[in-house]
Amino acid sequence: MEQLVKQIESLKEEIRAFNNGDAESFRIKYLGTKGLVKALMGEMKNVAAENKKQAGQLLNEFKLFTEARYDELKAASGNGQQATQSDMDLSLPADPMPLGSRHPISIVKNRIISIFKRLGFAVAEGPEIEDDFHNFTALNMPENHTARDMQDTFYITQNPDWLLRTHTSSVQVHEMQKGNLPIRIICPGRVYRNETISARAHCFFHQVEGLYIAENVSFADLKQTLYFFVQEMFGKDVKVRFRPSYFPFTEPSAEMDISCLICGGDGCSVCKKTGWVEILGCGMVHPNVLDNCGIDSNKYTGFAFGMGIERITMLKYQIKDLRLFSENDVRFLKQFTSGV
Ligand code: DAH
Repeated sequence: MEQLVKQIESLKEEIRAFNNGDAESFRIKYLGTKGLVKALMGEMKNVAAENKKQAGQLLNEFKLFTEARYDELKAASGNGQQATQSDMDLSLPADPMPLGSRHPISIVKNRIISIFKRLGFAVAEGPEIEDDFHNFTALNMPENHTARDMQDTFYITQNPDWLLRTHTSSVQVHEMQKGNLPIRIICPGRVYRNETISARAHCFFHQVEGLYIAENVSFADLKQTLYFFVQEMFGKDVKVRFRPSYFPFTEPSAEMDISCLICGGDGCSVCKKTGWVEILGCGMVHPNVLDNCGIDSNKYTGFAFGMGIERITMLKYQIKDLRLFSENDVRFLKQFTSGV
């Protein structure tokens, strides 16, 4: 009996000191089918009958003690999520931390902003829910004007005068109404149209509007500004051309094309064999628009332009389907890692 007590005491010492953190080898050594606890239990048969009760209690208490120590070791090692020092290998690479990337529309938008910033254009923003005046009437598109047909949108039932803006040209109106001249702004933002969704159209997309109003602003200023933009955005070899066009809010109006980035102007399926692709609309701000916004059209002139960011992005990265921008497929999105 005395011997058993001694044995248990020294085993307890050993167990307390067990500190290599490997709970499994502890379990095998002490608590396994061939472990020391079982072996000691087997000694019971050699204990004299009068000591059996006391020996049983001692052994039971020892078993509980060993199990508690096992739990402790388990918690300290992997299971408890807290690695002990010996588990840690600081030379291993860290767990990968997935890095997000900017959306291609944001990359191109930031790029456009930074190009125009260098020319002194400030960024202006306006509301996506507009009233009829800012989106249409002030821009020389009164009620029943046929140009409204091309920009059908979503109306807000609470107030028939409210709508989701169809273009960022509405921000021009807000800025002109503030009356801080000269004005030199670009207005990036989301716009909405009631269109059937396809590879080339969506019910929302993004535009950047530009506006420069001062004394003696001419069409030559407009051309040079846009030419600089194209060269910075697409490279020095890209050519531009202006085609006469019509917008109610500009006079004269033009559409600007760039030489096709795919075929270099020889003609291919992207440019429909013409060698040119359209990228934006522009013109000299119509005097009626200046007057509608409280600016003296005898003193001031200005130019404006508007482009779709999706269109520029599709040309730049040769993306063929507009829907990809809003599907949030990571396999598509993670390809665009270049910064601003
Ligand atoms: N607002 C026009 C559109 O969404 C684009 C545009 C054309 C804007 C000519 C302009 C401009 O400022 O001068 O189709």
